[in-house]
Amino acid sequence: MYRAIATCAFGLESVLSFELRRLNAQNIETDDGRVKFDADDNMIAEANIWLRTAERVLISVGEFPAPTFDALFDGVKALPWGEFVDRNDAFPVKGFSLKSTLTSIPACQSIVKKAMVERLKIDHNTEFLPERGSTKRIRFSITKDICTIMLDTTGDGLHKRGYRPLLNEAPIKETLAAGLADLARIRSDSHVADPFCGSGTLLIESAQRAAGIAPGLNRRFAAEEYDFLGKELFDTVRAEAREKIDRGVSFRARGFDIDPSAVEIARANAKRAGVEEFITFEVADARKFIPLDDEIILANPPYGERLLDAASSDKLMADFGKQLNGKKYKGLYIISPSENFEKMFGSKANRRRKLYNGMINCQLFMYFDNGR
Ligand SMILES: C[S@@+](CC[C@H](N)C(=O)[O-])C[C@H]1O[C@@H](n2cnc3c(N)ncnc32)[C@H](O)[C@@H]1O
Repeated sequence: MYRAIATCAFGLESVLSFELRRLNAQNIETDDGRVKFDADDNMIAEANIWLRTAERVLISVGEFPAPTFDALFDGVKALPWGEFVDRNDAFPVKGFSLKSTLTSIPACQSIVKKAMVERLKIDHNTEFLPERGSTKRIRFSITKDICTIMLDTTGDGLHKRGYRPLLNEAPIKETLAAGLADLARIRSDSHVADPFCGSGTLLIESAQRAAGIAPGLNRRFAAEEYDFLGKELFDTVRAEAREKIDRGVSFRARGFDIDPSAVEIARANAKRAGVEEFITFEVADARKFIPLDDEIILANPPYGERLLDAASSDKLMADFGKQLNGKKYKGLYIISPSENFEKMFGSKANRRRKLYNGMINCQLFMYFDNGR
């Protein structure tokens, strides 16, 4: 049994903890930007393959107060490194510090590394660690002087699902898109639209969720190379996940974008993600968008910061708001960094939620049943 940690964007912790509950994880504990849980080998593989909103799944090797470099060194050296890192393994160290006495990341990194070397020499009864075998990526976090030392099981971040090699401008991260689909309660029988679909991420994540397609089916994970977890375990969990796909669902989605090249990219991405049969994409102007009565609208419109200047994006939201005014739809979930969004859009959201879109502080504005 391990104590595992799944990291996520700030604001998505409760969504991630529900995902873990659905996986039957035990002892779930929610913190800023991460959720801890108990995991056996199988749960580590399941978490990597199934979690839609997590960025990374790590094994906690230890946690201790580290207000000084000495405490950091001693704390790291006291951990049973020989159980995790073989005598030939490479073990690069990365980390961050937040609201803590120790602030120099390079200094902390080299102390963690030195302490690991000291301990590994003892555990493997050797004077020389060649670091030429498989790579065990070590991460540390120091928050309010408490250091957590972790072994990464994921490798490339979990947002890298493998279906989006072509980048259009300002795409939303797959993990955040999955979070929006969760908050919008997309189900296997939902009808969904995205009038500003760009590369199609919100609809692709919604469709995968609806059809029970695990987000990590078509990628590899760092722990597949680890002797104590391994490829066979991941292959078994992937095979079980394939059995759970249900292509018979009545989920359908419509994506629109004013930019023809975005629409092309979205189609190619949906095909790669194995959800093309559920989604249609068309070139269209969101200012003329007509929702279906039972449609849930998801939207990540252009922001002042990136694609349009602030005045044009405000005007676009005002026009979009007028276009939707009086029309029937099931729900609208629109993410925006603008404090003025509701004023521009022309109506108050039923609920709002703070979320980070990359480094941009945003809110998800939620309208239920046309705001009625
Ligand atoms: C922030 S991006 C959306 C990114 C998308 N969520 C993704 O995952 O790639 C905003 C998109 O709105 C589109 N757009 C801008 N003005 C539009 C309009 N009037 N009607 C429809 N789409 C528009 C842009 O072409 C761009 O693709």
